[in-house]
Amino acid sequence: MSATSYDEYEGLNRLALDRAGQAEAFDVIGERYDDAFPHKEGQLASGAWLAGALPAGSRILDAGCGTGVPSARQLSDAGHRVVGIDLSPSMVKLARDNVPDAEFHRLDIADLRGGRLGGRGSFDGIAAFFSLLMLPRAEIPYALGLLHDLLRPDGLLALSMVEGDVDDFTIPFLGTSVRVSGYLRDDLRRVVGDAGFEVLGEDAYAYAPSSTDVPPEIQLFLHLRRV
Ligand SMILES: C[S@@+](CC[C@H](N)C(=O)[O-])C[C@H]1O[C@@H](n2cnc3c(N)ncnc32)[C@H](O)[C@@H]1O
Repeated sequence: MSATSYDEYEGLNRLALDRAGQAEAFDVIGERYDDAFPHKEGQLASGAWLAGALPAGSRILDAGCGTGVPSARQLSDAGHRVVGIDLSPSMVKLARDNVPDAEFHRLDIADLRGGRLGGRGSFDGIAAFFSLLMLPRAEIPYALGLLHDLLRPDGLLALSMVEGDVDDFTIPFLGTSVRVSGYLRDDLRRVVGDAGFEVLGEDAYAYAPSSTDVPPEIQLFLHLRRV
């Protein structure tokens, strides 16, 4: 499916991708995001897997990098060439300040269609921590297909999502609101398999953010290989 999905994603009407409010929410949240989500054991463990499974100097995309902390910094500190992208200009600025050795671009994940930042096969690894959950479910398989095609054969993807049976659902979030999507874990495994990934490992963490308006959640981490 993946080769087809990349082309189909490329052909999706740009106007159909409704990003209203998503970047603005993260512009307002800024560095409060890191205060609200401390103790990222699951994310750090998943980042350590990605960093350690690839040879030093690998080119790694951090898709929806947020503040760059902890993941872009962790991957960069491990000696990899990190390219971070994020929809929110404020997040990109914070990431540049936090991780000066990596490069960051204000880009929508969907902007990587058509060869931006190197195109097909140009990354050895990708981290997508809690970023694809900000897309509607109808788009997630295309986004996964795109990430699949950006990876070289046998390239690795560290993916995290919050477990939940929701689609483009508005939730209060750190004094603003965002739209999120999720899957129950069996469905998530099926979606990544359909996009052409093999599941090498999986972890689930119960996570209670320190902020009162973000409910406790189950975080799913999948370690995936492009097949
Ligand atoms: C929940 S935060 C996670 C940030 C970071 N990956 C982390 O785990 O710390 C989601 C991030 O994805 C970004 N984002 C949302 N939709 C995006 C899109 N379509 N393309 C690129 N980034 C996006 C948001 O601006 C935000 O910084």
